[in-house]
Formats: sequence, C-alpha cells, structure tokens
Amino acid sequence: MIIREYRQDDLEAIVRIEERAFEVGAYTIHMLRTILHDKDSYSLVAVEGDTIAGYIVILPLDHVSADVESIAVDPDFGGRGIGKALMNQGEEWIRKRGYAYSVLEVRDRNESAIGMYLKLGYRITEKLPDYYELEYRGSRDGYRMIKKLSSQ
Ligand SMILES: CC(C)(COP(=O)(O)OP(=O)(O)OC[C@H]1O[C@@H](n2cnc3c(N)ncnc32)[C@H](O)[C@@H]1OP(=O)(O)O)[C@@H](O)C(=O)NCCC(=O)NCCS
Repeated sequence: MIIREYRQDDLEAIVRIEERAFEVGAYTIHMLRTILHDKDSYSLVAVEGDTIAGYIVILPLDHVSADVESIAVDPDFGGRGIGKALMNQGEEWIRKRGYAYSVLEVRDRNESAIGMYLKLGYRITEKLPDYYELEYRGSRDGYRMIKKLSSQ
C-alpha cells in the first residue's frame, strides 16, 4: 500500500468509496469536489495495487487547528491499517504546517471510527446534539474530538 497526494482523476474512485463506506450521509460528488479541490486542503489517497482503497481530506480550521474533514476506507480494504496510515500522514502535514491541534467531528454511534481516533490519541471534547441532518443508528448527534500534536 502506498499513500500519495490526491489527483483530480482520483475523484470518481473516491465517490465510489464514499458511497460504499458510509451507510448514511455520504458526501455527494459536488461536496467531494469542493473539499478535495479547495486550494487550502490537503488530500491523500491510499493505493493498493492499482486500486484506490481510501482517502483523507484535511482543511485548516483556524490559526491553531486543522480539521480532518473526511476519511473513508473501502469496506473491502477495512481493518488493515489503511485508516490509521492516512491519519498518521495527515497529522504529519498538520504538524509541519505549524498547527497545534487536529480536530474532527464524528457520529456518536460510529464505533469503528471512534475506536480508531481514540487509539490515535484523540479525546472527546464536546457532544454535538443534532449535528447531522440524517439519523445513523437512531441518532443525529456527534462528538468533537481533538488531538494535541507535539511540536516538531
Ligand atoms: C473509520 C475507518 C476510516 C477506519 O479505517 P480502517 O482502514 O478500517 O482502519 P484501520 O484498519 O486503520 O484500524 C484502525 C483502528 O480502528 C479501529 N477499528 C476499525 N474497525 C473497527 C470496528 N469495526 N470496531 C471497533 N474499532 C474498529 C480499531 O481500533 C483499529 O485499531 P487496531 O487495528 O489496532 O485494532 C473505516 O472504518 C471507514 O471508512 N468507515 C466508514 C467511513 C467513516 O466512518 N469515516 C469516518 C467519519 S468521521
């Protein structure tokens, strides 16, 4: 598996991953294009053989933090460390850009993602009632999770 920066011709593969990875609330192609092509975003793909297996998009949030805007791994490639690898490389960029914190929002019932973030050192800092438009496992609530990144 290699991780490299996103290119415009990866967009269709990412749309497919998004639709397969999220039961509810997948980003549309329009939303994905907006965040992936944002001039300030940092976007990576994980490639297995000649298949794009996952992606991550990070966006600066304020002068001290950047936000993990989206991350997904194709279910066929889940549980092999790809999510963690994308997060680690994303955090490296955040750190190098001089931000002190990595921030993200996650659905309160998304156990696999929360499990991954806790293992990576994120802590829940806030409950976000009705944060999401659509219900997932009976809830629209989310959590904000934050990790303090050590300076270089
Ligand atoms: C969350 C997601 C990106 C994880 O990707 P992945 O490549 O499967 O994750 P990894 O193999 O790197 O696993 C990292 C950790 O996640 C946790 N994890 C993964 N699947 C899990 C599950 N089903 N239940 C609990 N924890 C789980 C584990 O803690 C794992 O650590 P370990 O390997 O040391 O046990 C992936 O499940 C996904 O795309 N989910 C759907 C989209 C999504 O929810 N994105 C996040 C939105 S905030």
